[in-house]
Amino acid sequence: MASSSRAFLFASLFLFSTLCYSPLICTAKGSRVSLELYYETLCPYSAEFIVNYLAKIFDNGLISIVDLNLIPYGNARVRSNGTITCQHGEYECVLNTVEACAIDAWPDLDVHFGFINCVESLVIERKYLEWESCFATTGLDPKPVLECYENGYGHELDLKYAAKTDALEPPHKYVPWVVVDGEPLYEDYENFEAYICKSYKGNNRPEVCDGVVLKMPKEKKSRNGVCHKNNVGLPDTMRIEMVI
Ligand SMILES: *[C@@H]1O[C@H](CO)[C@@H](O)[C@H](O)[C@H]1NC(C)=O
Repeated sequence: MASSSRAFLFASLFLFSTLCYSPLICTAKGSRVSLELYYETLCPYSAEFIVNYLAKIFDNGLISIVDLNLIPYGNARVRSNGTITCQHGEYECVLNTVEACAIDAWPDLDVHFGFINCVESLVIERKYLEWESCFATTGLDPKPVLECYENGYGHELDLKYAAKTDALEPPHKYVPWVVVDGEPLYEDYENFEAYICKSYKGNNRPEVCDGVVLKMPKEKKSRNGVCHKNNVGLPDTMRIEMVI
């Protein structure tokens, strides 16, 4: 009796864990489209993508079919002694680490995205030295992020993101490097919503997908800006002229 009831229990647990009792939620979860953003904090085009494009999907409902991952490293390099150099100077390394710490401290996407969106808005306004004001803006506790930054854990997170970025296939050429279901969008990243809708194979297509169409390159005002990988090593002033 004991063994058959145990078998029954396991069978029921198995069914409970695999069946979908709420088709709406389950379908969306199982078939979410993966969206990865490889970026660096001070590249103005990364900042604009986050603030002016990515933030929109939290309002228009597209986020319900997206599995979003932010990878704040971009065109940085790990030196042979383990320290990291960043494309837009030391302060970019500070903010890359801060944002990596935010993702770790608040695994809830809505929470860490809110903070990162705030910091990147300051980058656009060229007020990023005031990034700590984003704790107050978002109402988040500074402690976990500041501790992570100061105790060296943030550096470990940077190395993890460095490894993830360097393992990209095909390798990234610039940032923002937007990857939908494993495929980079190259300079067509502004169309990311259309690619997401196209990739989505689940039911309950969000309404926003009905209104999203791929814009052809000639309809666009101009090519989207990027921060190229090979700009590393230029003097800071020159880099600023080139990328902004
Ligand atoms: C790592 O190497 C760089 C130059 O390649 C140097 O400027 C830096 O001080 C070194 N850092 C450590 C901790 O050894």
